Amino acid sequence: MPSHLLSITDLSYEDIISLLDTASDLKGKRTRGKASSSLKNKTLAMLFEKSSTRTRLSFEVAMTDLGGHSIYLNYKDTQIGRGESMADTARVMSRYVHAIMGRVYKHETLTELAKYATVPIINGLSDLEHPCQLLADLLTIREYKGKFKGLNFSWIGDGNNVCNSAILACALTGMKITVACPEGYEPNYDVVLKAKELGAVVNVIHDPMKAAKNADILSTDVWVSMGDEEEYDQRLRDFKPYQINSKLLEQAKHDVMVLHCLPAHRGEEISADVVDGPNSAVFDQAENRLHVQKALLLKLLAT
Ligand code: CP
Ligand code: NVA
Repeated sequence: MPSHLLSITDLSYEDIISLLDTASDLKGKRTRGKASSSLKNKTLAMLFEKSSTRTRLSFEVAMTDLGGHSIYLNYKDTQIGRGESMADTARVMSRYVHAIMGRVYKHETLTELAKYATVPIINGLSDLEHPCQLLADLLTIREYKGKFKGLNFSWIGDGNNVCNSAILACALTGMKITVACPEGYEPNYDVVLKAKELGAVVNVIHDPMKAAKNADILSTDVWVSMGDEEEYDQRLRDFKPYQINSKLLEQAKHDVMVLHCLPAHRGEEISADVVDGPNSAVFDQAENRLHVQKALLLKLLAT
């Protein structure tokens, strides 16, 4: 296991399988009401520059379930908001807590934290990646499909942070990925290059119907990510043909599973009948954030 999780590629295929196995085990134990106190006396600091429902809750509950403690920090309420450097913040926080999870605008904020911290740094979403989300997605895919290799993963919509991690997660697990996005909204160039270097089959196209053909998994995310709000009107126009709806589902395999990291905007990137329909796995996917992050915290923190 690596000492930090900034990118999903910090994990090897073996690390991912081991995390998913632990997560499945913990999920079963939670259902049976079995508690663990493996992280007793351990504290996770959670530093947020952006809003969150799932990431905050799932990490906080994960620490509680494992007998540890978490501290929510809105950066504006800290001295970071008044100009204290990330380097000093990382050094100081490392003297108090056993790990730091950060949700930040710039990915470089996390690399700076990781450079100066002496405790693990976990990416809870940056402009570049959302690796914890993809761990949950992988667990959900494994639960529904029982495998990764050879599956057709189709991403419809913005080539954003979640899309970047999806491309890399597919590369690590042997899924073929096709991204359909409007021109100008392609995924990060270096991410696609890295995925190809890892041996992935990655196609970036502009036709959502073509991308959905024979898909085992259809995934999307909001058209306007946090930080993109000023482009709201333009994005709504540009993304209009990129909705996951029943017409698009007809192109995919009959047992296609639909993923969305949530929050969902029904009527924008996904229609209400699909997100609430029989192919949707979105609430299992959201639940799995808790189980994979518990596995991750155990690997990074348990001594
Ligand atoms: N999917 C996800 O990260 O959700 P939140 O923004 O609510 O944390
Ligand atoms: N791409 C979205 C994901 C939210 C969980 C964002 O960055 O706002």
